[in-house]
Amino acid sequence: MEHDKVLPYEQEQIDKKTQVTNMFDRIAPYYDFLNRFLSLGIDQRWRKKAIAKIAEAQPKRVLDIATGTADLAIEIQNKVKPTEVIGVDISPKMISIGNEKVLKRKLSNQVKLEVGDSENLRFDEGEFDAVTASFGVRNFGNLEKGLSEMYRILSTGGQLMILEFSKPTIFPFKQLFNSYFKYILPTIGKFTSKDPRAYKYLYESVQAFPDYEDMANILKSVGFKDVEWTPLTLGICTIYIGKK
Ligand SMILES: C[S@@+](CC[C@H](N)C(=O)[O-])C[C@H]1O[C@@H](n2cnc3c(N)ncnc32)[C@H](O)[C@@H]1O
Repeated sequence: MEHDKVLPYEQEQIDKKTQVTNMFDRIAPYYDFLNRFLSLGIDQRWRKKAIAKIAEAQPKRVLDIATGTADLAIEIQNKVKPTEVIGVDISPKMISIGNEKVLKRKLSNQVKLEVGDSENLRFDEGEFDAVTASFGVRNFGNLEKGLSEMYRILSTGGQLMILEFSKPTIFPFKQLFNSYFKYILPTIGKFTSKDPRAYKYLYESVQAFPDYEDMANILKSVGFKDVEWTPLTLGICTIYIGKK
């Protein structure tokens, strides 16, 4: 199935973007706990590795797309120390939990979160030195449109960093991880998040989503250059970087 046809609730009369917003609004209170629990805390290590890819260029203004509860945005502020990180997310509930975390960490002057659609950003061309997205682009209603917006708001020479799930390829890890991802994780997710579909959608959307070279080719097709990718934890997820 085409990746953008994989829907959280399989309600064909409602568009993917609305379904994704509803889903994240619903699971927002459980999202951080489930991330840590289901990944055994490895998700935070993946974010740190991803951030290291943009740290060297010392970006001053960073836009974090699909920022969710702001884990990546906060970590960027702490590690890279830009003058400003703006986080945009389509789910008001995810943003509200993100804002509580930003406030608690006394980062409100540097990390600013707002509700917005990554496919239609309010920012001018070339405003940011780096644009990031962790586990977000898979959920876009229209991947190419979202990526083109990320390209547009970057300054020339600015850096893109995407962290996204990919499909492990190495036997027997591929088979073991697939069983966990397809059966165990959705069962735990169902009871903990109280949403029976959310963690099934996670599995289904990853299966249909382009990874490695396929994803790199899409990034090149919207204009990014010097595209490279680095698989993490035997390919459970992959960091993609590119330049404008
Ligand atoms: C799996 S979460 C990732 C959140 C965060 N980046 C992280 O690393 O934990 C995906 C996020 O993408 C957001 N999202 C999905 N489609 C979006 C869109 N079109 N524009 C902005 N945010 C979007 C969702 O609301 C959700 O918060």
